[in-house]
Amino acid sequence: MHVQKIDHIGIAVKNAAERLKFYTDFLGLKDVHTEEIKERGIRVHMIKVGESKVELLEPMNEQSEISKFLEAKGEGIHHVAFNVEGIDEAVELAKKLGFQPLSDAPRPGAGGTRVLFFHPKSVGGVLVELVEGHH
Ligand code: CO
Repeated sequence: MHVQKIDHIGIAVKNAAERLKFYTDFLGLKDVHTEEIKERGIRVHMIKVGESKVELLEPMNEQSEISKFLEAKGEGIHHVAFNVEGIDEAVELAKKLGFQPLSDAPRPGAGGTRVLFFHPKSVGGVLVELVEGHH
C-alpha cells in the first residue's frame, strides 16, 4: 500500500444546502460534485480545494451511516481520508499491526472510488478513511 496525499476531510452536516454557502459563496470554491450513495444512506458533496477536498456528508434517512454521529455529537469533523494505492492490501496489513478496519473489504465511495474506514479507538480518536481512485 502506498499513501499519496490527504484526499479529503469529511464533515457531517444536517443540511448541506445551508452549509455549502460557506465554501461556495464565502471561500469561492466552485467545483462541487454531489452524489447519493444509497447503500450508505448518505448524500456526499465533494468540494475541491486545490489537491484535496472537503466532503460534506448529509443523511438521506435516519438509518444513514452518519445519523448516529449527528445525534451524538452534532455537526462537525467526521473523518480524515488518505488517498492510497493498493487498498486491498490494507485490511490484512492493518490486522497484522493491530488496527481495526470497520469492514472486511473496501466499500463503494463517491465517484466510483473504493473506501475503507478504521475504528477511531485504534487511531487515537480519529476516524480514518482510506480511498483508492479519484473523483
Ligand atoms: Co470520506
